Amino acid sequence: MKISHLVFLFVLTLCFFVSWGATSPFDVDDSVDLISCLKYKTNNVTFISQLVFTPLNSSFQSVWEARVNNFRFIKPSTPKPSVIVTPIDETQIQTTLLCTKRHGYEIRIRSGGHDFEGVSSTAVVPFVMLDLFNMNSIDVDVGNKTAWVQAGARLGQVYYSISQKTNTLYFPAGVCPSVGVGGYMGGGGYGNLVRKYGTAADHVLDVRFMDVRGNILDRKSMGEDLFWALRGGGASSFGIVLAWKLGLVPVPEIVTVFSVNVTLEEDGTDIFYKYQYVAPRMDRDLLIRVRMSSEFIGNTTKKTIRMSFEGLYLGKIDTLLTLLDKRFPELKVKQENCEEMSMVQSSLVLALQGFTTSTPTEAIANISAIRRELSNAKIKLDYVRTPIPKSGLRKIWRKMFANDRSETLIMYTFGGKMEEYSDTAIPYPHRAGVLYQLYKGVSFVDQTSDTTPTSLRRIEWLRSFDTFLEPYVSKNPREAYYNYIDLDLGIGSDTYEEASVWGERYWKRENFKKLIRIKAEVDPENFFRHPQSIPVFDYALVSSS
Ligand SMILES: Cc1cc2nc3c(=O)[nH]c(=O)nc-3n(C[C@H](O)[C@H](O)[C@H](O)COP(=O)(O)OP(=O)(O)OC[C@H]3O[C@@H](n4cnc5c(N)ncnc54)[C@H](O)[C@@H]3O)c2cc1C
Ligand SMILES: *[C@@H]1O[C@H](CO)[C@@H](O)[C@H](O)[C@H]1NC(C)=O
Ligand SMILES: *[C@@H]1O[C@H](CO)[C@@H](O)[C@H](O)[C@H]1NC(C)=O
Ligand SMILES: *[C@@H]1O[C@H](CO)[C@@H](O)[C@H](O)[C@H]1NC(C)=O
Ligand SMILES: *[C@@H]1O[C@H](CO)[C@@H](O)[C@H](O)[C@H]1NC(C)=O
Ligand SMILES: *[C@@H]1O[C@H](CO)[C@@H](O)[C@H](O)[C@H]1NC(C)=O
Ligand SMILES: *[C@@H]1O[C@H](CO)[C@@H](O)[C@H](O)[C@H]1NC(C)=O
Repeated sequence: MKISHLVFLFVLTLCFFVSWGATSPFDVDDSVDLISCLKYKTNNVTFISQLVFTPLNSSFQSVWEARVNNFRFIKPSTPKPSVIVTPIDETQIQTTLLCTKRHGYEIRIRSGGHDFEGVSSTAVVPFVMLDLFNMNSIDVDVGNKTAWVQAGARLGQVYYSISQKTNTLYFPAGVCPSVGVGGYMGGGGYGNLVRKYGTAADHVLDVRFMDVRGNILDRKSMGEDLFWALRGGGASSFGIVLAWKLGLVPVPEIVTVFSVNVTLEEDGTDIFYKYQYVAPRMDRDLLIRVRMSSEFIGNTTKKTIRMSFEGLYLGKIDTLLTLLDKRFPELKVKQENCEEMSMVQSSLVLALQGFTTSTPTEAIANISAIRRELSNAKIKLDYVRTPIPKSGLRKIWRKMFANDRSETLIMYTFGGKMEEYSDTAIPYPHRAGVLYQLYKGVSFVDQTSDTTPTSLRRIEWLRSFDTFLEPYVSKNPREAYYNYIDLDLGIGSDTYEEASVWGERYWKRENFKKLIRIKAEVDPENFFRHPQSIPVFDYALVSSS
């Protein structure tokens, strides 16, 4: 980097701090800037010239955009990092952390970039983005049934790596193959095996983790409290996850996937009503998910709801059909709706990417084969604990008809293994009694941005739909999922009362209080922060209120 650039960056940095108030720890006497700090501390010209990007680098924009999965956060007006660092080893991460702190920037950590509020790639304060995509090694140990995965690896790469070594072990993780393990595991993580094995975080055995001082810790050296917090409490409130050690679970060599569509004209309301009673109580080898959207009937202007019931059964077609015939004959699943395949193929087929069993398995690990525009949406998530009555379902359909067909609802069935975990086993608390998870989203794929009049109308519809659903979903608190982060829930964090408005929805009271206590111990200065990170309270403020 040229001296003139350094001076420019320095001035830019100063301007930021002038406009962002006086509370930053930036020390003006410390006249070396962040890049100089990185240079000085690593003494590695190659690192600086290849892996550190400032807005002056022509590739800055593309590196930043490359892993922003939601186009809502790729706009000229979106605040970008002052510096992006894309380390290839842990020393470079440590140096980045220490220099970032020293120069008064905040840090944002990005692994897969799927954050629903852009928390990993944008901020309203000057910040350094630590992008871990280069650190994506996966080491599968079949004998010990474990795998070490670095934070920058994607779920699809984990599935593929396991499948290259064995077809009778797997890892129970998420649906979309491009989701990063760095963010995913830190929030809990549901997926197609949730009824059989619980969340992904339930199967994390160990971690390599960097704390605010740059120390590398593992489960033993960090202690059980912090290890508990990292598995569902949102790792980015506590430090930097470098790698997770995963426990692999047994799966059959052959599994079955089925798919049937039902509309309201084909008794959709009755079938969905029954789904709510039987699917969460069914054999845990079977998971059924339902996707719904409204559509016009034929070429009329009358609307209906199309429901896609899709299932994964850990066994063969014959047994599945016997089971469904006994418990859920109304769904009318037949031999021709079913296909037998390997576990990794089931992840491909159920990935919502249009993949089929003839798609080469490699595609699940190939980031460029995954359609990013699917994330181009605003979403909200609920948990349903009581079956919605038919009258309520009919009201829901009418409410959906009022939107412009851009909405999608996805129900993931819980029950099974999820019933066996206590709400406090890990911070993720949405366990026993949850019938299904209810995802609601509106898409902007056909729009140029999320601020066109059409997009704004859709967001408004989603918010009113969310309010409308209140009587039908979990209450006290109305539960929400931290991995489906939603800043609409609130961002106040000066007092417990303020923070509990959103915190107790993600974690419930007991877990949230424990997370706050652990946060105060491991990051008392609140360096690792974002709008919904675990808060550190200013006790002067607490006692005066
Ligand atoms: C298309 C799509 C499909 C999804 N499917 C599922 C699903 O099936 N099941 C499910 O449970 N969730 C799902 N999610 C939600 C997903 O789990 C979260 O968005 C998750 O946070 C993404 O992790 P990431 O690493 O890709 O994202 P990022 O945007 O990189 O990170 C998300 C959050 O984690 C933090 N973080 C990332 N890496 C680290 C690290 N190394 N150390 C500390 N903190 C870190 C970030 O700072 C940020 O706060 C889906 C999301 C999308 C967009
Ligand atoms: C310097 O950085 C380069 C690129 O990141 C890396 O390959 C090399 O190992 C680093 N050298 C040392 C001594 O760390
Ligand atoms: C960024 O620009 C500087 C100055 O031109 C250059 O030395 C450096 O190699 C560039 N960095 C990257 C990662 O391209
Ligand atoms: C389990 O891991 C240890 C340590 O890496 C290794 O020595 C041992 O051989 C492994 N066990 C099996 C059954 O592969
Ligand atoms: C169900 O409907 C969707 C959307 O119209 C379609 O893409 C899919 O092929 C249908 N599936 C079946 C099994 O008919
Ligand atoms: C669509 O509408 C036209 C008349 O507007 C009609 O002739 C045609 O049969 C309809 N097609 C279908 C599939 O219903
Ligand atoms: C990954 O996918 C892209 C886009 O479909 C394709 O062009 C490329 O060949 C694939 N790479 C591999 C290694 O399969």
